[in-house]
Amino acid sequence: MEETIGERFMRETSYDTQDRSPSDQQKGLPQPPLEAPWDPSQPVLRLPDPASLSVPPMGLREAIEARRSVRSYSSEPMSLAELTWLLWVTQGVQARTAERTYRTVPSGGARHPFETYLIVRNVTGVQPGIWRYLALEHQLVAVNLAIPDLMKETVRACAGQAFVEQCAVLFAWVCVPYRVTWRYADRGYRDMHIDAGHVCQNLYLGAQPIGCGVCAMLAFGDQAFCDLLGLNRKEQWVIYTAAVGKKEL
Ligand SMILES: Cc1cc2nc3c(=O)[nH]c(=O)nc-3n(C[C@H](O)[C@H](O)[C@H](O)COP(=O)(O)O)c2cc1C
Repeated sequence: MEETIGERFMRETSYDTQDRSPSDQQKGLPQPPLEAPWDPSQPVLRLPDPASLSVPPMGLREAIEARRSVRSYSSEPMSLAELTWLLWVTQGVQARTAERTYRTVPSGGARHPFETYLIVRNVTGVQPGIWRYLALEHQLVAVNLAIPDLMKETVRACAGQAFVEQCAVLFAWVCVPYRVTWRYADRGYRDMHIDAGHVCQNLYLGAQPIGCGVCAMLAFGDQAFCDLLGLNRKEQWVIYTAAVGKKEL
């Protein structure tokens, strides 16, 4: 039987058979930046210091046992503090050197290849539109606050999943693959997808004590989502998304 693309990917990125030609790091090429460039002329929104956030106490066991995918949200807005908490648990930078960051989530080789984009609909103190979390600066920068019918466009990019229209905020993790392939060549594509799972699991668990519900989503249009976020798909693409909102009581 002919080898499928998935089988071929696994074979060609296996350490048993992988072409041993050196990665760009081994060739001495410079490391890409820890964060993708951003436009300083755009509005920025400073976020509360993570240490100042007060999160209702909840045991890890309770959070794990309460976690479910939630596709129906209350009309109550999320607060800026709640959004900040979720950004912190998913990508918060705890320590930094010139070459790497250490964050609230693990990442193979501490490559941390993601930029977090937010489609904001119902968060107090945040103008609806597309924002990006700058993890190194711990602030938001506006990407596009002028898209008409933003939530309809978002549903379209999410392969028509109608529940998305009612979420308070949609997280879209954008992968910058070269941050990983610079070190690991094509085997790094395995790392990226595994890293994304860790990030979204922290979102699910972090949402529990603050009364929010999350639904992870992989059903989206790759090109449609890149178009919505204004990304050049050759360099950056959406790896994973999740809708979030306050739970209905
Ligand atoms: C990788 C991944 C992709 C998913 N994609 C979608 C999706 O596009 N739409 C959706 O409604 N749920 C999606 N889900 C949620 C699953 O359907 C859900 O986790 C599963 O039904 C189990 O339910 P539970 O999360 O409540 O335990 C996804 C979950 C994962 C882990």
